[in-house]
Amino acid sequence: MATSQEALKQMAGEYAVRFVESGMVVGLGHGSTAIFAHRKLAALLASGELRDVVGVPCSSQVERQAQSLGIPLTTLDANPLIDITIDGADEVDPACNVIKGGGGALLREKIVAQATLREIMVVDASKLSDKLGMQWEVPVEVVQFGWQAQVSYLRSLGAEVTVRCEPDGSHRVTDQGNLILDCAWGPLEDAWELDATLNRRAGIVEHGLFLGLVTDVIVAGPDGVEHRRCEKGRQDHE
Ligand code: A5P
Repeated sequence: MATSQEALKQMAGEYAVRFVESGMVVGLGHGSTAIFAHRKLAALLASGELRDVVGVPCSSQVERQAQSLGIPLTTLDANPLIDITIDGADEVDPACNVIKGGGGALLREKIVAQATLREIMVVDASKLSDKLGMQWEVPVEVVQFGWQAQVSYLRSLGAEVTVRCEPDGSHRVTDQGNLILDCAWGPLEDAWELDATLNRRAGIVEHGLFLGLVTDVIVAGPDGVEHRRCEKGRQDHE
């Protein structure tokens, strides 16, 4: 019988929790895969198998979820160095570069990732791509002031741009009060160059290309769980 995508997300999310040790500061990613890691972490804390773990949530939604699960929380200000973050991704390339932000939490997620020693992505096998951009648009978070100017700029870079909306048609506003522009470029020939270009533009706060930040990818597929280790853009299979 085929394994459901939900079951694969659960396998990947729960697998990653084995790398958490007592006393660690843990980044809690946003999304439908990372939530399985949070639940497992909460269970291990409740049973006493793990102790003195504190979480840094990557979104206000995750903060509420973690509180209801009973995971003790802290802030990045109180703990500027995070031992492990477990987070989901929208697309993963063979060098462990990823697109994130499908859930709209990319800014906090990247801040947390850059403060993290071990950044673990948990995904089902459908997220794997030969090249970033083949399956997913790049979310670009922009300040509300003059956001149409960013639409024009991103179009001048060749993107098809859509402003992200809520089901009622209003603009989606992020935890930081910004908008998200979903940018379809198709397969990216040079994601690093695009990353540098977007980083230079005033009004663009952040974007969903997470390059060279991931240390481990946990991939759950029909044949089980694969643990990929990544180092400085290099990736070894275990
Ligand atoms: C949140 O902004 C995103 O980066 C998510 O982590 C990403 O979209 C993966 O989400 P799922 O695990 O729900 O697919």
